[in-house]
Parts: sequence; C-alpha cells; structure tokens
Amino acid sequence: MIDINQKRIAMLREGRIWFYEPGLPELLARGLARKRITFTASYPAGLSRARFVFVCVPTPTTSEGTLDDSYLRSAFSNIRQYTNAPRPVIVNKSTVPVGTGDVVAHLFEGEDIHVVSNPEFLAEGRAVEDFFHPSRIVIGSRNRIAGEAVAALYAPLRAPVVHTDPVTAEFSKLAANAFLATKVSFANVLSRIGESVGADGEGVAKALSLDPRIGAGHLRAGLGFGGSCLPKDLAAIEQLARRFTDSSGLFGAVASVNRAQRARVVDLLHERFGAIAGRRVAVLGATFKANTDDLRESPALALACQLAELHADVVVYDPVAAPQLRVVAPALHIARSALAAVRGADVTIVATEWPEFAAIDLAAMRRAMSGSLLVDGRGLFDVASAHRAGLDYFSFSTAGIRDCPAEEQLPAVAS
Ligand code: UGA
Repeated sequence: MIDINQKRIAMLREGRIWFYEPGLPELLARGLARKRITFTASYPAGLSRARFVFVCVPTPTTSEGTLDDSYLRSAFSNIRQYTNAPRPVIVNKSTVPVGTGDVVAHLFEGEDIHVVSNPEFLAEGRAVEDFFHPSRIVIGSRNRIAGEAVAALYAPLRAPVVHTDPVTAEFSKLAANAFLATKVSFANVLSRIGESVGADGEGVAKALSLDPRIGAGHLRAGLGFGGSCLPKDLAAIEQLARRFTDSSGLFGAVASVNRAQRARVVDLLHERFGAIAGRRVAVLGATFKANTDDLRESPALALACQLAELHADVVVYDPVAAPQLRVVAPALHIARSALAAVRGADVTIVATEWPEFAAIDLAAMRRAMSGSLLVDGRGLFDVASAHRAGLDYFSFSTAGIRDCPAEEQLPAVAS
C-alpha cells in the first residue's frame, strides 16, 4: 500500500488508523499479523512486481464545483514512471469526472497499460461490511481481458458483476449518489407535506420502503444529507445536466430541499424564542452521520456553526469527533457527554443519529435542561416518550402526529 504521507505510513505500519471506521482496525491488525499487507511511501518500492494497481486517491470539489483530479493525475504519472513490463492493470476506484478513464487510457496509449474503472460504492461507517458484501461490482474496461482479470479478484465476494465501458462505470457512480441524495430530499419533502396533512412521515416511509421498486434505504427524513460524497456528486451531476440537458432543475431542487431542512430548525428557534442570541443550544452529534468521525459537509456542524454565528451559546457533544471539532470549529463549546451538553440548555437538537443518543434517558435530559424543547433532527425518539418526559417535541418525521389536523378537515385535503 502506497501513500505519499510518511506520517500515515508510519501509523499504518503500527496498526494505527487516524480516522474512525468500525471494524477497520481489526482488519488491519489481521493483515499485519498475517504479513499480508505492507506500507510504503515509495512508489518504486510499492509498484515493483505489482500486477494490479488500485488507485484510491481523493477527488475533492474545486471552488467552481467540479471535481479536482490533480491527485489522480499525479498517481497515474508515478505509475507510468515506476512500472516496467509486464505492466500492471490500473484499477481506478476514485470518483472521477465522467470520461476520465478514457482520457487516462489515452495517456497510456501504446504502453500496454490497461486502465479499468471500478467505482467504490461502500458507505462510511460500514466500509468493511460493505466491502465484503457489496451489492454489485461495476467494472468499466475497453479491454475484455483486463476487465475479466479485475472481476476475478472479486470472485470470492460472490457479488453480481456489471461489465461495461469506463464512461458508463464512472457515470453509474455519480448516478447512484445523485439518486440517494434525491431519495433523501424526496423523503424530506414528503415529511413536510405529511406534517400539513396529518400523515406520519415514518409510516409513509415504511409503506414506500416495502415496495421493492423503491427500497428501504435513504428514506429517513431529517436534517438532510451531508458528507464528502452525496453533495459533491450531486453538484457534479447537476453540472452535467446543465451542460447537456434542460433538466438541471431536478438536481438543483434536491440541493435546495436539503439546505431548507437546516433552515427549518433555525426558523423554529426564531419562532419559539424570538431572538436566538444568548439562548443556550445543545447540539448532540457533529459528524455528517453516525459511526464516522467525518465532519465534511456535515449538516449537524453547519447548523451548530450557523447558530453560533447568530450568537447562540452552542454546546456540542459528539461521541468521536471532539478532536477534529476543536480544529475545524474552535468557536464551539465542546462537552464531554450528552448530559453535560444539555445542562442548562433552552433547546436540545439531536443532529446526528449516534446510537448512544437513542438510549438517552429523556426524563434526565429534561431535568438537566433549563428549557423544554427537543428538536429531534434524526428521528431517534417518538413523540409519546418525549411528552412523557415533559419535553416539547419537534421531529421531521413525526411532526405530523403532533400537529394532526382534526378528522373533519381530512376529506378536504384528500379531494
Ligand atoms: C455514500 C453512498 O451511500 C455510498 O454508496 C458511496 O460509495 C459513498 O457515498 C461514496 O461516494 O463514497 P456516505 O457518504 O458514506 O456514502 O453516506 P450515506 O450513508 O449515503 O449518507 C449520506 C448522508 O445522507 C448522511 O448525511 C446521512 O445522514 C443522510 N441520510 C441518509 C439521510 O438523511 N437519510 C437517510 O435515510 C439516509
């Protein structure tokens, strides 16, 4: 395994990982103990005798919203420089602008190097599980033998394999993430409609999820999607749609629904408190979702920072991301536990669905708070238990229950 960061290589050699990913430290320890994995910062050392080279470098978004492929280009040029005949097959796992595989293949023309696009579909927080049980393997290759050689590497995983060309493989990755983002925004709009007509958002999501054409994933209403993937890929597909179709509005709407979810919480606090300045706000969770310490594009962190800018007294608790939080958001107060965060709070916002939050004793939370408003941004609780604990409850998925209109009003809505 090659990385240009010497510090990380040194950590990996000792079996240490600098980010939170369940199951990964154990997997690394096993690989090291069995001497099946070694680490180097040297391209020549790492590439010697390689038959396949997996390229898994980051492709961040540029300020113009396109994907930055500079790490990728640098990796490819090193592979070109430091490999000899017989040349390895290059397997690209990085999310790249559609068409990159062919552009790179063109760079290597006449050099007997095959570039295969093999997008990664694993999700953070369940990377190990997803890697060993993938829903599909997509292999984009213009060379049949190279494509089949890569497919053979995955044979023990017994996953369905889609053989296609590189452009299709790359586009299928963007399309999958854009669809997931669309599903989340769709669920969020449904929950808002549900709130007005008196439908329980969770019930609607459950009913939808049992239709195999729809499926269960990404239908949870809440603070919206974040992370390094969905927002970035949504922006990339929106650009393509703008360039090649007159339908970019579809993806623009998905992004704007997503932003609106956070704005709703700010509006709610304005409604309740008048001015937000000086209010004590506890934010439980800072990462973009549970089981990761990733703060990139996190709706939870964005909301906490926005409230701090409005001069609220914001106290954040996150089970794993405190060290990173101190670096990226030094203005926020960081608590050591959920209960410490909610002490004296006018309002508690559950912003990330960490399992430990679901186990919180709501009565103890209420006693610790000075106010009574609980904003359940990730649908962890139910209205009845919140009310039993004396909390005033707002949730994106069950707000419909709270504000259920009188029965006689329903026929008018239905017609
Ligand atoms: C996503 C895709 O799920 C992976 O398949 C893909 O490989 C990965 O991007 C990538 O491109 O590398 P990830 O970013 O780890 O994975 O996160 P997701 O689990 O998809 O969640 C994204 C966001 O949507 C989170 O903020 C999450 O809280 C939110 N979400 C998810 C909802 O608001 N509701 C849901 O029902 C599901």
